[in-house]
Amino acid sequence: MRAGDKITINRTVLKNRLTMAPTVKFDMASADGKATDEHVEHYRERAEGGYGLICVEATAVTPGGRFGKNHMGLWEDGQIPGHERIAKACHDAGAAVIIQLNHAGLNSAPDLGEVIAPSAVPTRREGVFAKEMTVNDIRNMQERFADGAVRAKKAGYDGVQLHGCHSYLINQFMSKKTNLRTDEYGGNVENRARFGSETIRLIRERCGEDFLISVRIAGVEPDVATAIEVAEEYVKAGCDYLQVSTGIEWDDPTLKDEGKPYNLICELGVRFHEHFKGRVPVSCVNGILTPEAARFLIENELVDTVDLGRAALADPAFCRAVLEGASYVKCFDCPRCQYGPGMPHKCPAELSKKSSILPGNHV
Ligand SMILES: Cc1cc2nc3c(=O)[nH]c(=O)nc-3n(C[C@H](O)[C@H](O)[C@H](O)COP(=O)(O)O)c2cc1C
Repeated sequence: MRAGDKITINRTVLKNRLTMAPTVKFDMASADGKATDEHVEHYRERAEGGYGLICVEATAVTPGGRFGKNHMGLWEDGQIPGHERIAKACHDAGAAVIIQLNHAGLNSAPDLGEVIAPSAVPTRREGVFAKEMTVNDIRNMQERFADGAVRAKKAGYDGVQLHGCHSYLINQFMSKKTNLRTDEYGGNVENRARFGSETIRLIRERCGEDFLISVRIAGVEPDVATAIEVAEEYVKAGCDYLQVSTGIEWDDPTLKDEGKPYNLICELGVRFHEHFKGRVPVSCVNGILTPEAARFLIENELVDTVDLGRAALADPAFCRAVLEGASYVKCFDCPRCQYGPGMPHKCPAELSKKSSILPGNHV
């Protein structure tokens, strides 16, 4: 298999195996959660850079589920037109495009309303506990995700990705650490997967059979085998694509650094691929910052697709380096990558055009 090979996921054709990973741009959204011109240009530039699939950043399904005020949303119809422009810009450049739908749950910004979670566990604010969601709250939230997906479809996206990792709401239902419930949404694996599975079913019902539904899933929660069981529930519910990253708890002695040319977070995707091979496409992510690393994972058929985060931020056309051996601007792999303002000014992502690259960072 080659990085340039096509792949069809549900009915969406990706012209290659390279996906732009969701990466929020806090500095771009307006306080009403609408996409801005900057977003459109940001995604257009990367779609023109050659990605088979663009996954638009975490987008909130309710105003209270945001990370902070400057965070995009799809909780009302007035937000659709901005997304129409992003989807069109990506399609015009030949890329498929999906959008990541999210509610931050326990990790929502406390100044945006009451913080909710599967259970009344401590929030980011010292001494403050989350409000445990009632079954009614759960059903309402699933409807909000489905409404977001319907708006995404209206905007022209090929599908959605549910944010099921990185300690946000869907992941919080999956994790025993944040889900202490004793009803049908807590306890065994099937119950802890239920919030996500029912959400997938609702989206499938509302958006139709050919709408791509991906889940970005925690590949270790607390271990890989359990995370795979949860993924099986999502697949039964209609998930078409598993994009694997990290979760809340990491307690798996089988994950050992054995000097492979990819890190242990990527290894999660590789393990999922071993399990789901031929049934459900699987991608991996994390630390794929060179064309060689991307090619290694695809050419050895360790995963179906690779997700590229910082590499795509640092150089919108990083794909061409993978596909054609073109030169590229390399991510500095800073210890703590920028999340919004305060990004180190030396970051090449600050300089969106290749013509203004920093000396010594062009590979
Ligand atoms: C600036 C920035 C924003 C991010 N935003 C999101 C996001 O919106 N949703 C998400 O699931 N992950 C997000 N991530 C995580 C990335 O998608 C990716 O998993 C991580 O950066 C590791 O991959 P990489 O080494 O290719 O960058 C973000 C990462 C960065 C650096």
